[in-house]
Amino acid sequence: MNDLVEKLHHRFRKTFGEEPLMVRSPGRINLIGEHTDYNEGFVLPAAVDKAIYFAVAPRSDHHCHLVAMDLEASFQFGLSDLEPSPRGWPNYIMGVVDQLQKAGGRLWGFNCMFGGDIPIAAGLASSAAIEAGLAFALNELFQLGFSLSEIARMAMQAENEFVGVQCGIMDQLANVYGRADRFIHLDCRSLDFDYVPFSDQPAEIVLCDTQISRELSASEYNLRRRQCEEGVRFFQQFFTTVHSLRDVTLDMLESYRQRMDPVIYQRCLYVLQENDRVMGAVRDLRNGDLESLGIRLLESHMGLRDMFEVSCPSLDALVEAASRVEGVYGARMMGAGFGGCTINLVHPDALPVFQQTMSDTFQKRLKKPPLLYRVKIEEGTSVISM
Ligand code: GLA
Repeated sequence: MNDLVEKLHHRFRKTFGEEPLMVRSPGRINLIGEHTDYNEGFVLPAAVDKAIYFAVAPRSDHHCHLVAMDLEASFQFGLSDLEPSPRGWPNYIMGVVDQLQKAGGRLWGFNCMFGGDIPIAAGLASSAAIEAGLAFALNELFQLGFSLSEIARMAMQAENEFVGVQCGIMDQLANVYGRADRFIHLDCRSLDFDYVPFSDQPAEIVLCDTQISRELSASEYNLRRRQCEEGVRFFQQFFTTVHSLRDVTLDMLESYRQRMDPVIYQRCLYVLQENDRVMGAVRDLRNGDLESLGIRLLESHMGLRDMFEVSCPSLDALVEAASRVEGVYGARMMGAGFGGCTINLVHPDALPVFQQTMSDTFQKRLKKPPLLYRVKIEEGTSVISM
């Protein structure tokens, strides 16, 4: 059992005087397939060995007492008076309670303490870990009977409606469906998925954290989503079969290019190409062709930088430096963009040179201390037996 879990368990018992249910809810990485989830496309995420931990216990009234251990902050609310709070963090919790109740879940009040080691706003989906982790914990605690995909969907809607980010479903599904040593090849239209093994590959996954707080990201993210929707509406004028960019082909895009707004065209082209790259990446992983996979990662980065325009100079500098290191298969920005982390696929023998090169890049080009995380692919959200 790790120290964080021990500390949380101990503090919960000291504060509330009772034995909690303990839940682990991981962060996620995404190998490839960025900004495709809300376009009903494909993604290739995995849950990792960084997580938020929850301690929860039922109360006999309709009040909820929250303690955010890492922030040393607390908050209380009633089950029937859910209002977004200017304090920010309680909204992730209240948003989930709101969704569970709207879906017919019969809740009681509860005490909840949580804390973890997922870096915040670094593109590892810490907010999805809070939302899906809490939905999972309350589902267990009150025996609500929701399935994992219902939990993921409610967690996403909590973010959409209570936090105000129009995110897709990738982070929440990766959180609940994660399996050790496997990527999740997920079709965001049908929500069908299969697991793609990673453990037998000669590669380590290293994240480089720009440490840029992603202030722009919520508004720009929502804007990108609207631009994709505009692309869909454009094609709906000519094709009744188009419901999302998933239904648009490269041929259709090229035929109508001249009539399209050039920015919308670029956004659509990126999404279509990225979907193809995900399919290619799955084949590469199954064939053990990491060289080819690495090229796709770099192409994905270039698309995100030049066509979808969600990168930033620090992310570009880190990808550029990484791609020049012998033994680095590929690198790209990961997550929503405008900061957060790059994901790097590195041959184990190349790790020392990679780390040195990246440290120099952080210092010289980003003017920041280096911040690298080596991550392992882990199980999705689950109950911790104490
Ligand atoms: C964020 C969102 C996801 C997804 C990615 C970009 O992580 O929460 O739904 O859209 O950005 O791929």
